Amino acid sequence: MKKVLVIGGGGREHALCVALARSPQVGQVFCAPGNGGIASVAECLPELLVGDFDRLAAFAAENEIDLTVVGPENPLVDGIVDYFRERGLAIFGPDAKGAQLEGSKAFAKDLMARHNVPTAAYHVFDDFDEAHAHLQNLEYFPIVLKADGLAAGKGVVVCEDRETALQTITEMMAERRFGEASARVVIEEFLRGEEASVHAVTDGKTLMIFPTSQDHKAIHEGDKGPNTGGMGAYSPAPIAEGAMLDKVVRDVLVPVLNGLHTDGIEYRGVLYAGLMITKGGPRVVEFNARFGDPETEVMLPRLKSDLYEILFTAATGRLADLDPPEFDERPCMGVVMASQGYPGEYQSGKPMFGTEDADALADVTVYHAGTRLRDDGGLSTAGGRVLCVTALGDDLQGARDRAYEGVSRIRWEGAYYRTDIGHRVL
Ligand code: AMP
Ligand code: GLY
Repeated sequence: MKKVLVIGGGGREHALCVALARSPQVGQVFCAPGNGGIASVAECLPELLVGDFDRLAAFAAENEIDLTVVGPENPLVDGIVDYFRERGLAIFGPDAKGAQLEGSKAFAKDLMARHNVPTAAYHVFDDFDEAHAHLQNLEYFPIVLKADGLAAGKGVVVCEDRETALQTITEMMAERRFGEASARVVIEEFLRGEEASVHAVTDGKTLMIFPTSQDHKAIHEGDKGPNTGGMGAYSPAPIAEGAMLDKVVRDVLVPVLNGLHTDGIEYRGVLYAGLMITKGGPRVVEFNARFGDPETEVMLPRLKSDLYEILFTAATGRLADLDPPEFDERPCMGVVMASQGYPGEYQSGKPMFGTEDADALADVTVYHAGTRLRDDGGLSTAGGRVLCVTALGDDLQGARDRAYEGVSRIRWEGAYYRTDIGHRVL
């Protein structure tokens, strides 16, 4: 039986662990560091942090791990895949060069420009005075300012007017609000439309398309308030289905994969296109080099095929040998429950109740993002995003009703969630 190590400790990693444990080939799943919910399906390794490549690789070697699966972007951008491969360890994810697709917005923009991939018009600035002058002379607002590097989803600011743009560019470039990540800034055209996510697993040659999905980034109902890591999602996203999906594959995913190949990058891992579906068709908002969170929590409950086989085959470059994956026709909806105050300051350590009652509902799965198992066996909150309560349903309304029924069974002091996940489609 195969042994798998999942790196990360959020809702996405919980969903990955559950799907990997379901594989008939997998005997044991480890998760570093894991969390209070992951502990029920995998052996958690709380002392192994995601940035500690040395100890993670040593663990994989000593325990004869057959495949390591990387959840978050930071270790990918920092080269964990290169580190493991140099040591002969199988790992799923792009190498540091490939992960630049997410790790540097300027890199992604340049690649898209050279391969005619539809995206927002843009300029890249390394010099504060030049960026400032550009904004002074701009005629049209809103405009979008993006820190080039990783900023935990917070490095993008939509600026409604010149004053906000000038203030934001000063914070980013002169005051280094995001450290070195905002030493370089991309200024781009504001796109109007509806967002959707398309994920593909690839070995650098073949694309395996996963179901479409839609995230809800804003903290409050009606997509108001600051952006978060994601407050809920559903799959499929009707707006990106059918002919639109064909277009995304043909105009976005294929040219990007070919472009990476031409540039000497064999990209093995998740190719995740964050899209704006505009009147003129799909345009890329950003690429990610890993599974989305919370999108993974609504895609994987629909997966009927063997996730281990898919990820191992992609990691070892033989994806063309596999049959297309099978997905449950039924849609899935996920509602994120967060700590009061998130994405700003929030309190952790609140005792939580009812997750097992929610999990007991038919077709409901509660994925844990920020939870901790206490010594007495109970659960406490341990993060901003705490849970993602997902449900399959005969249709999206059914999935939504069931997900919110799950949510209603869970409580802790200061639990917060959006009541309108799926509002655009329902
Ligand atoms: P990103 O981190 O690049 O996904 O950006 C975060 C969010 O900012 C996206 O999900 C969009 O809601 C918004 N955004 C980013 N770029 C644009 C753009 N060019 N036009 C409109 N909205 C954008
Ligand atoms: N849900 C957005 C992301 O994973 O980046």
